[in-house]
Amino acid sequence: MAGRRILLTGGAGYIGSHTYLALSEAGHAVTILDSFENARRSVVDRLGRITGRPVDVIDADVRDAAALDAAFAQGRFEAVVHFAALKAVSDSVKRPLDYFDVNVGGLTTLLKVMEAHDCRRLVFSSSATVYGVPDETPTPETAEFRAMNPYGQTKIIGEQLLGWLSASDPRWAIGILRYFNPAGAHASTMIGEDPRDIPNNLMPFISKVATGELPKISVFGDDYDTPDGTGVRDYIHVEDLARGHVLSLGKLFESGEGHLVNLGTGRGYSVLEVISAYKRASNRDLAFEIAPRRPGDVPIYVASAEKAAEVLGFRTEKTLDQMCASSWAWISGEHSGGTD
Ligand code: UFG
Repeated sequence: MAGRRILLTGGAGYIGSHTYLALSEAGHAVTILDSFENARRSVVDRLGRITGRPVDVIDADVRDAAALDAAFAQGRFEAVVHFAALKAVSDSVKRPLDYFDVNVGGLTTLLKVMEAHDCRRLVFSSSATVYGVPDETPTPETAEFRAMNPYGQTKIIGEQLLGWLSASDPRWAIGILRYFNPAGAHASTMIGEDPRDIPNNLMPFISKVATGELPKISVFGDDYDTPDGTGVRDYIHVEDLARGHVLSLGKLFESGEGHLVNLGTGRGYSVLEVISAYKRASNRDLAFEIAPRRPGDVPIYVASAEKAAEVLGFRTEKTLDQMCASSWAWISGEHSGGTD
């Protein structure tokens, strides 16, 4: 596919930055738009060092219609890959208005500006969280929506909004990607997940125990109905996930039609299995203790990965060991732990 002009909102974040590299490698001309509220500025510099080319960045919030309008006037984008959103489940329970404002308000603002500039191709970041506690595992895309928290509700509303929009005008081609649990870091060891605060998610938390920054891992519950009693998730290497976006975009251009797919491996691992894999990768002894269940947690999330294979030709390539090894290479390397 010939290179396209792509706007990548939230392109300085964890998944966004890896997707920037995958899209650039595929020959696209990518402009990042990020507010840097939850991303580090040093990432931009690193993306430039990895690609050997200057990175086009717009410092703006996705709710800022005037800034988006100016970006489109200048960039004449042919498609948008939209990551810019808030994503912490417990935080969303504490400040739901911010989640609706950014995740739903930001999306509508973006869509209106896109329409005004005759750009109707979009890849949208959704999440396995839209399934709530699913009846079926592995979970197919046909499973029903179940909101468990404000964050999940914003993703459901986003998907529904996009459904109505596509129905209103066949010129829209929208790829909805439901991510399972992204993990790992780029092979360059120059970018990876690096939350500013104490991590909420398992893999970044483990990585900070491995470096000695945090004393021990709390395993949230060992009495779930799973093989070892701890929560099971479908971890997907962030480089595989990034590649899924390239395929999704390619499909939108090729077919002119939208799609809705899970992006996962189809295989689940328990918390204890992830800790063991990280021990092997880091060669560190990782202290952990069994703690109470975390409110709102789901016992098992595993993707049915068949539809993404059929529709996009997407198959994951990297294993849990590779996720842990790349995470460790990043977090223990010289580039992690920025203060900007
Ligand atoms: N866990 C621990 N200890 C920790 C952190 C997590 O035991 O310190 C456990 C959880 O209980 C769960 C598993 O590790 O069983 C994974 O937890 P994460 O917080 O890493 O991920 P979640 O599956 O809870 O949530 C993530 C994203 C959501 C998204 C969801 C979709 O944070 O935004 O994946 O699967 F919706």
